[in-house]
This record gives sequence, C-alpha cells and structure tokens, in this order.
Amino acid sequence: MPASRDKVGAVLRARKNSHLELCQHEDVEYRGKTTLFEDVELLHNALPELALDDLDISVEFLGKRLRAPFVITGMTGGTAEGFAVNRDLATVAERCGIGFGLGSQRVMQRDPATADTFAVREFAPTTLLLANIGIGQASEQSSAEVQQLITAVRADALCVHLNPAQELIQPEGDRGFRDGYRTLARLCADLTVPVIAKETGCGISRTVGERLRGVGVRHVDVSGAGGTSWVRVETLRGNARSRQLGEEFAEWGIPTAASLAMLRGCGLELIASGGIRSGLEIAKALALGARVCGAALPLYRAYRDGGIDAATLRVDELINGLKTAMLLTGSRTLADLSCQPLVLGERIKAWLAVESGGGKG
Ligand SMILES: Cc1cc2nc3c(=O)[nH]c(=O)nc-3n(C[C@H](O)[C@H](O)[C@H](O)COP(=O)(O)O)c2cc1C
Repeated sequence: MPASRDKVGAVLRARKNSHLELCQHEDVEYRGKTTLFEDVELLHNALPELALDDLDISVEFLGKRLRAPFVITGMTGGTAEGFAVNRDLATVAERCGIGFGLGSQRVMQRDPATADTFAVREFAPTTLLLANIGIGQASEQSSAEVQQLITAVRADALCVHLNPAQELIQPEGDRGFRDGYRTLARLCADLTVPVIAKETGCGISRTVGERLRGVGVRHVDVSGAGGTSWVRVETLRGNARSRQLGEEFAEWGIPTAASLAMLRGCGLELIASGGIRSGLEIAKALALGARVCGAALPLYRAYRDGGIDAATLRVDELINGLKTAMLLTGSRTLADLSCQPLVLGERIKAWLAVESGGGKG
C-alpha cells in the first residue's frame, strides 16, 4: 500500500477511536436545545379495550420484517475496538429483531485491510443491516465502488450520511458541499439496494426532503437535534480556532420532532433519530409519521457499561415504553398509532411555520 494511503487510513482510524472515547466519557449532547418531543402530546384513552399481549409492534422496513420499529444507527468500524462494538451491537440487533447500522466505511475504502471490522453479517444473519458512507466520499467514488462496499458487508440498504456542520468544525474536515443531490440521484439510479439520506444530528427540513424525493431518494433518517451533538464532539477534539467556532454552533440544528413534523406527508419513509431516549418518544415519533426510530449514543453507552446484556436491556426498556404508550392511546398496531391525534405546542408550530411562509414575518 502506498505510504500516503496508509497515513490517511491511520488518521481515519485514530479519529474513529477518539469519537468512541469522547462519546463514552464526555458530555456530547445538546445542552440548551431539546428534540422538542416534550412539545408533542398523545391523547390518553381511558378505555383502550386492549391487553398488552394484543399489541403488534412488528414492521416491514427495507425488505425486512423487524420485531420492533427500531434501528441501532451507524457508529463505527475500522479498528479492533470498532469491530468489537459492531459485532456486539449487531448481536443485540439480531437478538431483539431490530435493525443495525455500520459506521462510515470510508476507512474501508482507504485501507481494505479494515474490511473485517465491518463484517457483522454472521452475527446478524437475518435482520436489517445498513451500510454507511459520507456524501463527500460518495461523490468522489464511482457507483461501482460504492456498490462494492455494500456487497462486501451484505447490507440491505446504504446510509449516505450528511454532516456539513460536523465537517466545518473538524479542523481537517471538508469545506465544499456541492454535488450532493447529483450524487444521491446517481446512487439511487445505479445501486442494487435502497439509499437512505441520513443526517447526523442536525435534522432535515421540508425543502431538503422534497428535493431529495425529487432526485429519487425514498428513505430519510432525519437524525435531528437534541441528542448527540457532533459539533460538540469535534469541539472537544479541536484546536483553538475550531473550539471557538464549535462553541458558537454547538446548539445548531432542527430538533428531531420538528424535523419529523416538517417532513410529514412528503412521500418519504422516515427513520426518526437524534436524541431518542425513551419508548414514549418512539411512540410520539411514530405518531408524527416515522416508520421506524433509531438511536446511537444510549445503546453505545449501555454496551460500554454492561456489554451485550445491558444493551439488550436498554432496547427492552425502549420497547416497553412504546408498548405502554400504544396501550394508553388504544393503538393495537403501529398503523393505529400513526393515526393518533397529536397535541402540538407552540415551539413545534414555530418550526412548521418557517417553511409554510409563516416565519418570514
Ligand atoms: C460514537 C458514534 C459514532 C458515530 N459515527 C457515525 C458514522 O460513522 N456515520 C453516521 O452516519 N453516523 C454516525 N454517528 C451518528 C449517529 O448515527 C446518529 O445519527 C447521531 O449520533 C444522533 O443519534 P443519537 O442522539 O441517538 O446519538 C455516530 C454516533 C456515535 C454516538
């Protein structure tokens, strides 16, 4: 391998390990801004005429039947530590019948020797598995090269992550973000699996969602603000200049619940993630139009605290909360839940007004 290529691979691996380290130990979540799920209420049903055993929370998503509408979203790979996390969280996903996302496979392109650290299909033989690449890297690769990343890990779909805020704060990050829609259009046309446009904690607006749909994207992970802040993570890693900029933009982004409300009814299948920390929030997200929900940080931290069993328990807690909310709204199925009336507070309505012209004064 050429020395420069090896060096880039080493930089990427060091960065992935530092992300894992910071996310385990530091305060990396939004502080002032929330997901705004507290601004969404479901209507209580005093006589639901249901038993917990009647509930059906299974869902068909991206060609796979999930036992619960949930995905552990992409985090890592490329290092021995990243492999252990991938292997064990993929095992949790298989055990719970939920989906699992790999972290960015950029390092695998740069250094093919790291491919094994993404090879989790044997630990999750039946459940939904998502490949992952950044929009910047995808735009520099041919569709055949991207297809190779998907085929190598036997994934069911590809997440193309969008992270302009993180890149701008990262000292060595990208500074140009042209060609995004053209790249996604090309991938949607050329790849054998569906493409998911995935934010990484700053949310997706209606305008962007409609343009994505226009170029052929059918699946979006909103990954909104209120959970892990990648600006904050990069601020912790950065130099003096990036720290100043990072402090300024640490609360940037569209809250997850607001992003979902904005994208409702625009013809996209939505994954709700970014700050999802309870089953009640999952229920609210599904009632706001998401097909499934996802989270990264809480599963990673549970795993670090107590391994596969603790992460499995965390998933069980989320599912129990979802089932409780379903019973209390009289929803037997996820389709019933998606039709429940919602009370929306003023703060969500303010976000909704922006794109319907109401925010222009
Ligand atoms: C340790 C860690 C590493 C991550 N790496 C990636 C990545 O490689 N690719 C990606 O699309 N998202 C990555 N994410 C973002 C998550 O998938 C998710 O979109 C974001 O953290 C918001 O969800 P959360 O609040 O539940 O953590 C990472 C998250 C964590 C916690």
